[in-house]
Amino acid sequence: MPLTIIVGAQWGDEGKGRVTDLFAAQADVAVRYSGGDNAGHTVTVGAERYKLHLVPSGILCPGAVCVLGSGMVINPEALLREMDGLAARGVDVSPARLKISRAAHLILPCHTALDAAAERARGQGAIGTTLRGIGPAYTDKAARGGLRAEALADPEAGAEQVAALVAEKNRSLTQLYGAEPLDPQAVARQFVEHARRLAPYLADVSLYVYERLQAGARVLAEGAQGTLLDLDHGSYPFVTSSSTTAGGAFAGLGVGPQWTARVVGVAKAFQTRVGSGPMPTELHDEVAQHLRGTGANPWDEYGTTTGRPRRCGWLDGVLLRYAARVNGLTEIVLTKLDILGGLEPLRICTGYLLDGERLAEAPLGAEALARCTPIYEELSGWTGDLQDVRRSADLPEAAQVYVRRVVAIAGVPVAWVSVGPERDQMITIDEESSHD
Ligand code: IMP
Repeated sequence: MPLTIIVGAQWGDEGKGRVTDLFAAQADVAVRYSGGDNAGHTVTVGAERYKLHLVPSGILCPGAVCVLGSGMVINPEALLREMDGLAARGVDVSPARLKISRAAHLILPCHTALDAAAERARGQGAIGTTLRGIGPAYTDKAARGGLRAEALADPEAGAEQVAALVAEKNRSLTQLYGAEPLDPQAVARQFVEHARRLAPYLADVSLYVYERLQAGARVLAEGAQGTLLDLDHGSYPFVTSSSTTAGGAFAGLGVGPQWTARVVGVAKAFQTRVGSGPMPTELHDEVAQHLRGTGANPWDEYGTTTGRPRRCGWLDGVLLRYAARVNGLTEIVLTKLDILGGLEPLRICTGYLLDGERLAEAPLGAEALARCTPIYEELSGWTGDLQDVRRSADLPEAAQVYVRRVVAIAGVPVAWVSVGPERDQMITIDEESSHD
């Protein structure tokens, strides 16, 4: 591999955690390059289920060193909670296995408070953020007023910076939003405790990853959220505040693109979204209920981080083709194919109608996308459970046709499909059978 990048090809929640877990078995280094604990990656290993928010899923593969890159925003309290939870289950989270970029930015309680206050103020126009402080932390970063992880190296000096930042943010909280101020000294004291524990994990991530690549290591970059939530290329303003696309990996790690061998896009066999914003193929009928599930199963469509029910609909092939283009996808992993079983007919969106005009490409901007009506291609469905299928030739003919149509519409090969949450419920799709 030298560098394999895994990205979400939709609005997040595509199943990147389990795909990363699959690749991480062959990786020497597993990195996260963007976002923060707004992400929620679920990985199932035998009877064990892990929910990860900040730590790369590679932590569950003992051979991989895990890295949090400079493109991330890290809430020290959330990170320590996650590390403690992993350690309690016997996972090694020592500094030998986990490294934090000194250039990553920190999320402090004032950022989470500001996220909530800003969402309240947006009223009907709320983005539906995860309320983890992501936007305010990236705002500070871009405004050059944020606090970088390097502040953890000197807890006492860092605490002074923290107190000053909280005092400054209190002005926005109280004067702009009429919200309660935070106690700068209490936040600073908490910071000192966190910093003492996290300081040994700080690293020059750009140099570390570069040296490992030079030495022949296989590096796996695990994207968070999805292409359509990218700050530049997503359905702005209903996006997250980071670069979730493949390009974000280079900036968010500090390595050049020449190392890249593969860009793997993870897409569900249907479409989901949490939070507000346009979603042309959204359904509100019994098909949506079928796709979402009841919530009884951990893999049903309810947010890992927030527990919110996800909006569900047919696969949007226009947006998948778009994701293939902006990321330069070399292959797709199509997850949750099994969930489509029992639906008749199946539909895939292959174009839009906007103001009486047929569009083959998605229009730019959330407002235009919200007015698009999907044009669907209908396909036959299948009955029966796919959960025990392990070879592509054993998939029902209709499922094979569905996969081939995805390949043709996206213009990128589907390399695997998943038919269940377990590690082994992943089917390799051979090249010949993936073409029409
Ligand atoms: P934020 O990242 O918390 O600011 O949220 C901005 C938008 O991104 C909201 O619509 C969220 O629901 C969405 N979002 C953020 N993280 C994830 C994720 O991991 N999966 C799916 N949606 C996400």
